[in-house]
Amino acid sequence: MSAKATHGRHIPPADIHFRDLDHDDVPAVEDLYRRMNEHDSYMRFFGARPKHLNTVAEYTCRRAEGSYAVGAFRDDRLLGIANYVRGPRPQTRPHPDVEIAITVDHSVQAHGIGTDLLEHLAAHARSAGIRWMTAEVLAENSLMIRVLRDVGLSHHLHLDGTTMTLEIDLQGGDLKEPAAI
Ligand SMILES: CC(C)(COP(=O)(O)OP(=O)(O)OC[C@H]1O[C@@H](n2cnc3c(N)ncnc32)[C@H](O)[C@@H]1OP(=O)(O)O)[C@@H](O)C(=O)NCCC(=O)NCCS
Repeated sequence: MSAKATHGRHIPPADIHFRDLDHDDVPAVEDLYRRMNEHDSYMRFFGARPKHLNTVAEYTCRRAEGSYAVGAFRDDRLLGIANYVRGPRPQTRPHPDVEIAITVDHSVQAHGIGTDLLEHLAAHARSAGIRWMTAEVLAENSLMIRVLRDVGLSHHLHLDGTTMTLEIDLQGGDLKEPAAI
């Protein structure tokens, strides 16, 4: 598989397509989580892979106000997911706030899929009237931090021990248009 680089970033291969996920995608999402290696699981779940992956997959694909998930596919095979959910903390801002997560199959990482998934997520959140997206990542997760910075949205960083919180202001920067969904 080859990836093209434009202006310093990779763009996903042309045979990757993106679409919204719903409840029918739960088995594919569970399978993607199950295929993750130990390192990727640790980065995604901040520890061991959860035992009840089906529950996590259901939560990821939940279609409810304040929740959204998008998948990257080659043919029918799910290769990446990005989702947001309304944050559990009390809302301290006048605008809705969501927490995001991204997972890309290890075999296709570093091909721009994570960056494109984030762009789809940000475009959807913005169109839903959401202003702030929050990402909590392990401070050692330099790849995810790079992906978050690459999209060129204005953000604030807070380091709290081993965890880094990035707060992305969807109205504070230029969002590149993702490929049509
Ligand atoms: C973080 C993650 C989502 C990034 O997805 P991705 O599809 O690899 O991201 P991209 O291809 O858009 O890569 C972004 C940058 O990281 C680089 N990169 C990504 N994976 C890499 C790897 N394994 N080795 C070297 N560089 C890598 C890319 O080259 C790119 O750099 P550039 O912008 O300078 O070109 C993916 O690594 C992943 O699923 N990790 C495990 C789960 C996780 O950590 N999730 C985040 C917490 S919710």
